[in-house]
Amino acid sequence: MIRPRGISTHSIIMKRIFIVANWKSHKNKQEATDWLKTFLDFKKSEDKEVIVCPSFTILPYLQQWIGSHRLPLSVGAQDVSPFAEGAFTGEVNARQVKEFADYVIIGHSERRTYFSETDEMVTKKVEMARQANLTPIFCVQGGQTPVPPGVEMVAYEPVSAIGTGNPDSPENAEGVIRAIKEKTGASYVLYGGSVTPENINSFTSLPSIDGVLVGGGSLDPKTFAGIIENA
Ligand code: 13P
Repeated sequence: MIRPRGISTHSIIMKRIFIVANWKSHKNKQEATDWLKTFLDFKKSEDKEVIVCPSFTILPYLQQWIGSHRLPLSVGAQDVSPFAEGAFTGEVNARQVKEFADYVIIGHSERRTYFSETDEMVTKKVEMARQANLTPIFCVQGGQTPVPPGVEMVAYEPVSAIGTGNPDSPENAEGVIRAIKEKTGASYVLYGGSVTPENINSFTSLPSIDGVLVGGGSLDPKTFAGIIENA
């Protein structure tokens, strides 16, 4: 869960960095296990929180594996129903997700594009998530995307940067993210889109950027470990 930014003994404000792996529609149980095994020696860092978001099918398995091996990783889901419990075939509601995760990605551009999710629908998802005490990681495609009330964590993901190897410039991302914070009051705003071990620090070293949402770069555990290391 979100903790306040720490203050060091020298009273320098330490920025807490969130590094979120969005596996999208990748990985079965065996592939997830192989990935997790490479993090067995991963040490907890006070200033970096790592969140892994797998498919629903392996969410309970991941939570259990991480718990029993005491890995310093948090778990998130990639989506949640806009409805409460009820007759909504195929949907997974927020109370069900909360059994296995603390975070949930909402409003990803892929869901808006391929599954016709509207601003109204993603607003309902945020309401459901918050009622269930799940922290939404709310994706916006630019500074104009509406952010529902009460969202604490936003991810700025310009569509042109997703999966293209063509990230936003750190300077532009910093400007957009600063503006999102001023407009919405969100405490944490992440950048997402073609993040790599090589470019991560150019984003996370900037004052307004609180972390990254990583797609392709999270699938290979060694690459993802490099992203965490360099953040
Ligand atoms: P890539 O890191 O593959 O560009 O994807 C970003 C993303 O969509 C994360 O949610």
